[in-house]
Amino acid sequence: MMWYDPSPFVLGGSQQAHLKINGLNAGYGAFLVLRDLTLEIKPGLTVILGPNGAGKTTLLKALSGLIARQGEVLLNDVALPTKTNEIVQRGMALVAEGRQLFPQMTVTENLELGGWLCSKAERVRRLEQAFNDFPKLRERAHQLAGTMSGGEQQMVAVARAMMSAPRLLMLDEPSLGLAPKMVDELLAIARRIADAGTTVLMVEQNVKKALAVADRGYVLERGVLVASGPAKLLARSSVIREAYLGAGKKDDKSKPTPTAQRPAVAA
Ligand SMILES: Nc1ncnc2c1ncn2[C@@H]1O[C@H](COP(=O)(O)OP(=O)(O)O)[C@@H](O)[C@H]1O
Ligand SMILES: [Mg+2]
Repeated sequence: MMWYDPSPFVLGGSQQAHLKINGLNAGYGAFLVLRDLTLEIKPGLTVILGPNGAGKTTLLKALSGLIARQGEVLLNDVALPTKTNEIVQRGMALVAEGRQLFPQMTVTENLELGGWLCSKAERVRRLEQAFNDFPKLRERAHQLAGTMSGGEQQMVAVARAMMSAPRLLMLDEPSLGLAPKMVDELLAIARRIADAGTTVLMVEQNVKKALAVADRGYVLERGVLVASGPAKLLARSSVIREAYLGAGKKDDKSKPTPTAQRPAVAA
């Protein structure tokens, strides 16, 4: 079995990850959440927006192999496996909602777990890299993860995912429950990771801030896409403005007549 150094796998050296998702169905038992979903995740930072229960987490779970899926998913034109460990080996990592750190373990120990697929020497190298990328964590290397603030824990969770040297990083609501300053910091980290060449797919509730850092966005409602496009255009679209940025609401007198139509923004 090939456990060491997943980096040269399938995706060649400088090739950035892109996902093509075609006719994806996923859900829980007989309950289908995502219906015939078709979208593309290009290199850079893509944000998935949408109300609670829209299926955003379900999408990330389906792509990570945590739940079953039907339909076509291609990672750089090669079919994505369905087993979680094989998906990780193909270079995909998920930072799930709620972080799921080991609270009784130190920051270093938590990070080392993220490098479980690689050799000891490589793990040491990546840990050093993680501390370079997240200097705040170096100062806290020996602190128990459970004693850190929410924002610091989220940072550990992202750094741990980066320990697997992913080509595609999935973040599920990284800013959930964080103070505004910490939200900005986490979103800036996501941006930096994307700029450094790892494709980022991020679910976010902070619509305005997320669209400010993202390259592209998709809006999911009840398991189907209702809008998509470049983040800048999406931020100005009626779908986003009315549903998520407060424009057109009853208490907004500047926009008394919101349009009923919800046209998709051209990609
Ligand atoms: N483990 C589960 N079992 C059954 N239904 C679930 C489960 N997790 C989520 N759901 C349902 O799937 C739908 C989509 O949920 P989810 O993907 O978590 O939404 P989002 O992340 O967009 O808030 C919701 O109706 C939710 O109740
Ligand atoms: Mg969710």
